[in-house]
Amino acid sequence: MSGIFVSFEGIDGAGKSTHIHTLAQRLEQQGRVVTLTREPGGTPLAEKLRLLVLNEPMDPMTEALLVFAARREHICHVIVPALARGEVVLCDRFTDASFAYQGAGRGFDTAILSQLEHWVQGSPANGGDVSKHVFVQPDLTFWFDLPAQVAASRLTIARSPDKFEAQSKDFFDRVSQGYALRMAADPQRFARIDANQPQDAVWTAVQQVARARRLLTND
Ligand code: TMP
Repeated sequence: MSGIFVSFEGIDGAGKSTHIHTLAQRLEQQGRVVTLTREPGGTPLAEKLRLLVLNEPMDPMTEALLVFAARREHICHVIVPALARGEVVLCDRFTDASFAYQGAGRGFDTAILSQLEHWVQGSPANGGDVSKHVFVQPDLTFWFDLPAQVAASRLTIARSPDKFEAQSKDFFDRVSQGYALRMAADPQRFARIDANQPQDAVWTAVQQVARARRLLTND
């Protein structure tokens, strides 16, 4: 696969969405073809699963299985084909969110999450051709790190909260710790962005990383 896979992570209210769109525009100006997508979601079926996951109370195992089921659809039908075409895939959340929210936030067994990660991202994602076995993982992950207290004050002025946005500060403190653990386990892949600063300073930090990783050119 010749494309570049970039994911964006952070607790709810960390402010990543604006920067994903700006980065997509900048990449397109530089001649790259961009697939801008999100999780849970990104395909018609995965978007249906998203509505369930974000709005219906459910058993933690059910929740974990549904986010990974949505991910499998997304990998097979959107991410792998786009990477094969040589595109830049910008994905608003990916598996680190499952470790942060289901694992650290909810306390769901991370060994099971690792198994799901292995199955969903590691088995043939092209309809069964084992000769094209790949492990689908972002090349670069931006982690927008913001104290839970600050994110909560941003969310109070936003739309009515979904199931996750309505969680306590303690939950989001644990989610942040979950992201920190994922970064510690794979530091080369991660770029931590200090999201507790004005939006233009955050954008400057995003651009610096994108240039250093040769995602953006210097013009
Ligand atoms: P967002 O699109 O506004 O970021 O909302 C997606 C929500 O879903 C967010 O609260 C995090 C949550 N989520 C999980 O709990 N597990 C996952 O694997 C993913 C991708 C998202």
